[in-house]
Amino acid sequence: MKRRHFLTLAAAGATGSLVSPSPWTRLNAATTMQQITAGKTRLNIAGTGQPDTDLWLYNQSCPGPMLRYRKGDMLRAEVRNNLDVATTIHWHGIRNLNEMDGVANLTQAPIEPGETFAYEFPLNDSGTYWYHAHNMGWEQVARGLYGPLIIDDDQDPDVDHDICLMVDDWRLDNDGQIDQASLGGLHDWSHGGRLGNWLTVNGKSAPEFRVKDKARIRLRLISAANARIMTFQLTNASATLIALDGAFCQPEQVTKIILAPAQRADVILDIDRGSIDIAEISTGEPYPAATLLVDPALGSSSLSKTPINTPKPAALPSLRQLRRIPIHMQGGAMGNLQKATFEGAELSLRELAQKHKKLWAFNGQIGDYSTLFAEIDQNNLVSLDVYNDTAWRHAMHLHGHHFWVMSDDPTLALPAGQRDTWLMQPQERISLVFKADNPGLWLFHCHMLEHAASGMGAVLSID
Ligand code: C2O
Ligand code: CU
Repeated sequence: MKRRHFLTLAAAGATGSLVSPSPWTRLNAATTMQQITAGKTRLNIAGTGQPDTDLWLYNQSCPGPMLRYRKGDMLRAEVRNNLDVATTIHWHGIRNLNEMDGVANLTQAPIEPGETFAYEFPLNDSGTYWYHAHNMGWEQVARGLYGPLIIDDDQDPDVDHDICLMVDDWRLDNDGQIDQASLGGLHDWSHGGRLGNWLTVNGKSAPEFRVKDKARIRLRLISAANARIMTFQLTNASATLIALDGAFCQPEQVTKIILAPAQRADVILDIDRGSIDIAEISTGEPYPAATLLVDPALGSSSLSKTPINTPKPAALPSLRQLRRIPIHMQGGAMGNLQKATFEGAELSLRELAQKHKKLWAFNGQIGDYSTLFAEIDQNNLVSLDVYNDTAWRHAMHLHGHHFWVMSDDPTLALPAGQRDTWLMQPQERISLVFKADNPGLWLFHCHMLEHAASGMGAVLSID
């Protein structure tokens, strides 16, 4: 290698790896069948100079391929399982056909090793979504089985750059490998879930994205973390929040973005004072997440920076005739759950934990797929009245529907639009209101994936 060449490389390397604003190839072509293969791959996620990590990925990429469509398109994907274990794909946040929802052993048989399954469904909502494994998710998502799903809308605001940041919190050992010893550990399952020690954005450590000077940028943040609740802070910029969990909300100025597992947030920011650093600050120490680097070679934005207008969020219907479903959430460490029903038998928490690895309950019932938690008539307006009577935070997710968040507590900041995942604080009481207009068997569960696996979930039947 000639010395000059080396110096050029070194200069580029000094600021980390440079990534173009759209890091994935656009598969698009809504009418063609996407081929998605789940398999084992070695890939560098642990940073420069570190060994490659053994991962389970879609199409050998981390994250999996960017699936990008327009509202109204059909998504068609043939999923091949090249792993040694059964899997499925769940399309998180999509108000899907029930048989396409991808919940192994509830809405479909798991896709066995060597088998394929074809998903095909219309995309009626626009926004930022994601897809992930939904069989043993606590292990399969932790090993890398996830990817972004973006659905464009005619009413999307004009921007210079549309950048998706899919964040993950990995737990790696000293060899840069997935810390396998901690997978399935009872301590994590009874506490806040399996937290990681290595942050990636789009599978990289602190990537840089080159942007035009004076650019208007849409950032789409997606959390693929198993359990960590992250907070992102932007230096040198103020951001306008325009969507939560895919759905447009009332535009609002924000300085921080809190993302619980599975949540998404879309923000618009205008570059006016140079490059922007994005840091994750939930531990108290700012941890570099990504940089938006102004690159003069890209020129300057010619977009006029008009105030951001987004479509109005769906209005809450009249609440007369509300079917209320109380959910008393108990369990975990430092909790008050003494006994609960599991597979028809009442067991003590000690037995549940030691024999069955079950730790959490709704209304005294450990979640399992063979018990219907509630039967709901189609088109009822339903309120899940959830009381988090545990010492832990939980990211509560409803499949197949979007909900409005309501509370009697005036100190709680509630979103103006609909969501599909809501982060609950200990002792919080909240009402998640939705129109039960999508028939089928739908899960309501915690997206701290270890909590879900140890009983924090329920099946709602709508017909
Ligand atoms: Cu994102 Cu039941 O999951
Ligand atoms: Cu939880």
